[in-house]
Amino acid sequence: MYYSEDIVEEVRSSTNIVDLISSYVKLTKKGSSYFGLCPFHNEKTGSFSVSETKQMYYCFGCGAGGNAITFLMEYENFSFPEALKYLADKAGIKLPEKDISKEARKEADLKQTILEVNKEAARYYYAMLKSEKGAAGRRYLSGRGLSEETIKQFGLGFADKYSSGLYRYIKNKGYSDEVLMETGLFRFDEKYGMSDKFWNRVMFPIMDVNSKVVAFGGRVMGDAKPKYLNSPETKAFSKSNHLYGLHIARRNKTRKLILCEGYMDVIALHQAGFPIAVASLGTALTRGQAQLLKRYGDTVYLVYDSDAAGVKAIVRGWYILKSAGLESLVVDLKPFKDPDEFIRNRGAKAFQERLDKASSGFMFIIRNIQGSYDLRRPEEKTRFLHEAARELVKIEEEIERTTYIQAVAEEYGVSFESLRKLVASEAMRVPAPVRAEEEQAPALRKKKPEKDSSIKEAQRLLLTMLTDNPGIYPKISKYVYPEDFSEGLYREAATKLYSQLDSGKANPAAIVSCFGNEKEQQEAAALFQMKITEADQKERSRVLKEAVLRIKRYSLKIAGDNMNPADLEEMQRLIKGRKALEQLEKIDILAN
Ligand code: CTP
Ligand code: MN
Repeated sequence: MYYSEDIVEEVRSSTNIVDLISSYVKLTKKGSSYFGLCPFHNEKTGSFSVSETKQMYYCFGCGAGGNAITFLMEYENFSFPEALKYLADKAGIKLPEKDISKEARKEADLKQTILEVNKEAARYYYAMLKSEKGAAGRRYLSGRGLSEETIKQFGLGFADKYSSGLYRYIKNKGYSDEVLMETGLFRFDEKYGMSDKFWNRVMFPIMDVNSKVVAFGGRVMGDAKPKYLNSPETKAFSKSNHLYGLHIARRNKTRKLILCEGYMDVIALHQAGFPIAVASLGTALTRGQAQLLKRYGDTVYLVYDSDAAGVKAIVRGWYILKSAGLESLVVDLKPFKDPDEFIRNRGAKAFQERLDKASSGFMFIIRNIQGSYDLRRPEEKTRFLHEAARELVKIEEEIERTTYIQAVAEEYGVSFESLRKLVASEAMRVPAPVRAEEEQAPALRKKKPEKDSSIKEAQRLLLTMLTDNPGIYPKISKYVYPEDFSEGLYREAATKLYSQLDSGKANPAAIVSCFGNEKEQQEAAALFQMKITEADQKERSRVLKEAVLRIKRYSLKIAGDNMNPADLEEMQRLIKGRKALEQLEKIDILAN
């Protein structure tokens, strides 16, 4: 790991997780824990819990969990060192200077380095735009109506005609070619060596919500192809988890956002007085982007191109936004192609009027379906109503569905009752609402069915009970050893917990930060936060015994399966173990 366990623990323990999470999520105290709506998946009843004693959080709905550091990594998209730095700064702790020697920190550092290089590159492109060599870029941008101030606000820049200007500039700062290749800003050619990926283009730095430059887009100044060239995915940039312009739009407190398609649309909208515009950068809206939007807004105005592809994107986007808990409204730009063109031609006031007239996302979908039927013909109208009913089935919530049935019935002149019946009959026919699997938030992904899942459940139960009631440790540790836990994360965590309990105090949150990545931290957090029902709590002794027996039996079975028959000593141990197990079955392990 990058920093020593001691310093990580010092920082972590100086933070109260309840205070930290309260600044993001509204928490209410219930019993010994705090509860709130999970920020990592969409829900209406709070299954997100924060434990002050354990200094951990856990969502019983989606399985997200961890300590204060994990929370920042998940919520703010921070790397481990970034989260640590953030908490250290808050607590007034000075982190030790980086120790360059370790191979292990290379990975963690790479993202940091890419961000550093990107920042330098953005400075370089900006300076280039302002310099003599940037005349063509300045002409292009002012030709598109952008003011000096806007250019500065978005940090726009220029890559000139020569293909190694940036490379020479950055190389001077002492980065290796190997690292530079990871930034996606350069190309390597056997014959010509390293050169810039972007040249003769105006440059759009892409920033994350914390205003760090994570990637670039570059536009040709004419009609050449490709129109835009973008940074590839890197350690610092995953396209499907970013939205262009969100670092500015997030500051707005209206909880409304405008979602459009391109760089220029966002910039034009901000300049025209709509600082709530963001763009999905030409890709179809992803679930990750919807989650990001949900953090800063409740209502999203969809302003997509008014062509067939745009309509398709709206239909798809509506469902994704809806399942993230966002309301979407569709803005009609006709006869213009995109917001940038609309603003240029009609101005900000007219755009505001279009926003005010935006139609509900669902009604837009219905009207779009209607477009392919001639309602004057009875049989076509019937087929249209069937298709509309199938859309209505997809709305899971009853009150909402009823409202839409009403709206559709009214708009197309049928009675509410008959449409409701049609919806009911379609509901019997069509399969459950389709929600693209791959669109599921990481935390919601179905867990792999595991053969030994019930053993692991017993292990989690034991670890949770040990943390909750350290008093039982001396008795439990007589029977169950860290080696009895499943190999890997379970055993590592158990070993750590045992050694904490040996020295007197369980500190599960500290164990969580021993694991390197978020996934492992989440898994580790789950070990200590198993939901134990009241009934189980009452019958603690029986439940514990069952868990202990299951763990022991399994561990002995594994040992037996892997035993070398020639190893007599091992055989002896196994036989002894089996005897002990027989004994264990007869006694109450919590009694003396
Ligand atoms: N895009 C891209 N690569 C392309 C074309 C488009 O990455 N070859 C992305 C860009 O983020 C672009 C968005 O898709 O902003 C929308 O594309 P398009 O509508 O073609 O461009 P505009 O944003 O309208 O760009 P402009 O106004 O500069 O022509
Ligand atoms: Mn455009």
